Amino acid sequence: MENNVAVVTGGTRGIGLAISQALIHEGHTVAAVYFGNNEAAAKFEKETEGKGKAFKFDVANYNACEKNCEEIEDKMGAIGVLVNNAGITRDGVLHKMPLENWHDVIETNLTSCFHMCRTIVPRMRERGHGRIINISSINGQKGQFGQVNYSAAKAGMIGFTKALALENAAKGITVNAVCPGYIETDMTSMMKQEVLDSIIRQIPVSRMGKPDEMAEIVSFLCSENASFITGATISANGGQYMA
Ligand code: CAA
Repeated sequence: MENNVAVVTGGTRGIGLAISQALIHEGHTVAAVYFGNNEAAAKFEKETEGKGKAFKFDVANYNACEKNCEEIEDKMGAIGVLVNNAGITRDGVLHKMPLENWHDVIETNLTSCFHMCRTIVPRMRERGHGRIINISSINGQKGQFGQVNYSAAKAGMIGFTKALALENAAKGITVNAVCPGYIETDMTSMMKQEVLDSIIRQIPVSRMGKPDEMAEIVSFLCSENASFITGATISANGGQYMA
């Protein structure tokens, strides 16, 4: 497989980890970007037996993205897949939100997509092939009480996806967004149980989603069979929101 290196941001935990594992299963080698949890990164490298390598840097820092992507290509080979999955929450109502919580979420969740794509897309264009998947959210589609920052960033990723898809369709690069609903991860486990229970009551399939269910979608979008799908927004939310 040519250009078989996949970069997955936030790729050592949660949905990102499931995506990294699925792409390895499909024959990719994976550079999983992380910033906080060294233990999860070490576990990922150990369990993937040379097929996955963890890179520690802040996707909100442009220079770090540029430097590390160069290093990934030098060490692992041409990047054919980029999954922008890294994301944080700083939930709270706008009328009490510190400015910092707005900027942190916009920079880590949305500006990071610009940083990674600005670095990797020119390389994909030269090679005439690429797959970019941006992990947005149901809350970017419908809005969520307590998440003006997160909803804005995730909605921004959808517009970003469509514009980038238009610019690169003729160069063999597809760009798509996946909008997970509420998925069993560390992120949702941080929510207050009663808030989470009230959300689960709004999900028609009566359960939260699993990281592997998101990874299956990403894996398909990365395949050659998905070459006619670009600029799409794929919802996977148990029927909670039908856009
Ligand atoms: N709609 C309308 N009113 C609501 C509401 C809702 N959905 N949720 C809360 N309220 C009201 C409450 O009833 C309460 O009103 P009163 O003061 O009149 O009783 C008021 O808003 C304050 O509510 P809380 O007691 O919950 O306030 P808080 O400050 O303790 O918490 C919050 C605020 C942090 C935003 C909390 O409501 C919360 O965690 N909300 C959920 C946010 C959420 O869904 N985050 C998703 C994280 S996972 C993720 O983001 C992944 C993904 O992509 C899906």
